[in-house]
Amino acid sequence: SKDCHSNKPIRVVITGAAGQIAYSLIHQIGNGDVFGKEQSIILHLLDITPVMGVLNGVVMEIQDMSLPLVKDVIPTDSEEVAFKDVDVALFVGAMPRKEGMERKDLLSANVKIFKSQGTALDKFAKKNVKVVVVGNPANTNCYILAHYAPSIPRENFTCLTRLDHNRAKAQLASRLKVSSSAIKNVIIWGNHSSTQFPDVRSATVSINGQETAVYDAIRDDQWLKNDFVSTVQKRGAAVIAARKLSSAMSAAKAICDHVRDWWYGTRENEWVSMGIISDGSYGIEKGLVFSYPVEIKNGQISIVQDLQMDDWAKGMIEKTQKELVEEKNDALKATNSE
Ligand code: NAD
Ligand code: LMR
Repeated sequence: SKDCHSNKPIRVVITGAAGQIAYSLIHQIGNGDVFGKEQSIILHLLDITPVMGVLNGVVMEIQDMSLPLVKDVIPTDSEEVAFKDVDVALFVGAMPRKEGMERKDLLSANVKIFKSQGTALDKFAKKNVKVVVVGNPANTNCYILAHYAPSIPRENFTCLTRLDHNRAKAQLASRLKVSSSAIKNVIIWGNHSSTQFPDVRSATVSINGQETAVYDAIRDDQWLKNDFVSTVQKRGAAVIAARKLSSAMSAAKAICDHVRDWWYGTRENEWVSMGIISDGSYGIEKGLVFSYPVEIKNGQISIVQDLQMDDWAKGMIEKTQKELVEEKNDALKATNSE
């Protein structure tokens, strides 16, 4: 009989594999929700030595799901084993923030991790590996990772702001009483932090097949500039306050959205938000990992250009850029002083 999964498996590494995001993520990846129902997969699962017992339990559950696409599972605490020949690398592992902390408070602990993993990625991964950094502070961790993996093309490094993007869509959909699939082209600019700029100036809503600007449909400038923006900026903290743990189910779903769009491309006339290494577009410092509106075709990510911005929007972008420059400088200082 013909085996429809006999194609060559891709190798996907998940770091922080014993943690809570991975616990939601692994099933979706293994189930074919990201790379398709025909693409077989070898899962590389990295975590730290003290939790190898826990990781072994996760491996038992992967076995027990009996997923036909999963050809092999490699649990490990070795960076060499984890990154060897990988096609896709999802950097989830890091120290998560607790109530009352800003994401940048995690910088010193996490810079060490991303320096070491960047060096290993550079040595052992495929040169066309697609990288997504999720662990916080996601943009700056991605900056450090890329810095220590100079042989991998700059366009292969991304960080996750899709959760913020999805949160923005959901807030608008709820306000307009429509499905979130009716909302298109919101943008998250800048840092995955409370300075991020959730921008709805280009967003549209489709009501009975008719596309309207979200601004015209909501007709409440004050709400859009204040409550909406701060709700999206502070949503991660609100989830932590409620759950006493950082978001995991929604983060895993956003990772899947991000990677699926990179793999298959974005839809016609629809863009998504991704943290990428800036080429200087919109006056942002070249090299910073900055969230932009992007379109993706054949695996190539391109920034949506020529969007108009008023002074308020420019100020919002300036503020998040400033924070990223400071984080980057602190992170570089921390890596050099080791
Ligand atoms: P968690 O604490 O449940 O899991 C993290 C795992 O990473 C743990 O198992 C830990 O042992 C592991 N880890 C720590 N250091 C490691 C290392 N050097 N190598 C490999 N693994 C290591 O946390 P979580 O809830 O799964 O969250 C993971 C990260 O994702 C956190 O930094 C969190 O703040 C971040 N996060 C980001 C977003 C986003 O939108 N970008 C959303 C949610 C959470
Ligand atoms: C989130 O946005 O939910 C995560 O980044 C977790 C956090 O620290 O807010």
